Amino acid sequence: MALLEDLKWRAAIKIFDADKKVSDEQLNDLLAAARLAPSSGGLQPYRIIVVTDPAVRAKLREVGYNQAQITDASALIIFAAETKVDEQLVATFIDNVATTRGVDRASLAGFEGMVNGSIKSRTEAENIAWAQKQAYISVGVLTAAAADLKIDACSMEGFSVDGFNEVLGLTEKGLTASVAVAVGYRSDADVYSKAAKVRKPEDQLFIRI
Ligand SMILES: Cc1cc2nc3c(=O)[nH]c(=O)nc-3n(C[C@H](O)[C@H](O)[C@H](O)COP(=O)(O)O)c2cc1C
Repeated sequence: MALLEDLKWRAAIKIFDADKKVSDEQLNDLLAAARLAPSSGGLQPYRIIVVTDPAVRAKLREVGYNQAQITDASALIIFAAETKVDEQLVATFIDNVATTRGVDRASLAGFEGMVNGSIKSRTEAENIAWAQKQAYISVGVLTAAAADLKIDACSMEGFSVDGFNEVLGLTEKGLTASVAVAVGYRSDADVYSKAAKVRKPEDQLFIRI
């Protein structure tokens, strides 16, 4: 399985080569992979923001614990969860299902009711947490896709959420920053790419019943 070798190769890079850029085509491939990630009910309750503007990234670094990846990677991809997980969000999704699959919208009423029921059974904070979980699945898929392309990636949740929301104007868009992924190419100076990978021993991770 080629992907296993890719995953052994990848590492959460701290020092990127600021001069090496991911091509637009490869960046689009990474975004395509992120878009194809599964999500609960298929709702994808998040947005994916691609930041390449150096000025914006400098501001994000100020509220991102000064992490160098924020400015030095080729691109910074921010996953922001929807904060309004409501009937409107579900209706938009159902419209898309009907259009994409060419089915009568009325035939989806049962499914729509079920999804709305589960949303209403949770508090607003629980729905945002649920939306964030879905975003993380997309992060995982993007990270694996990057490894396949031998593009480096560093997932990052080390930032001020309020700070990212403010710099990117997310609150007024009904979004909140969840997790970011810096993508680019490792610098020779990065030590994490050379260190042995630390993972739980199999018997401490897997439970087979
Ligand atoms: C959700 C998430 C958030 C992370 N946040 C940061 C971060 O803010 N800064 C950082 O340098 N690494 C961050 N990491 C990288 C982890 O520290 C790294 O994945 C872990 O130590 C395992 O190492 P490896 O990915 O190189 O195998 C994050 C990873 C994940 C999955």
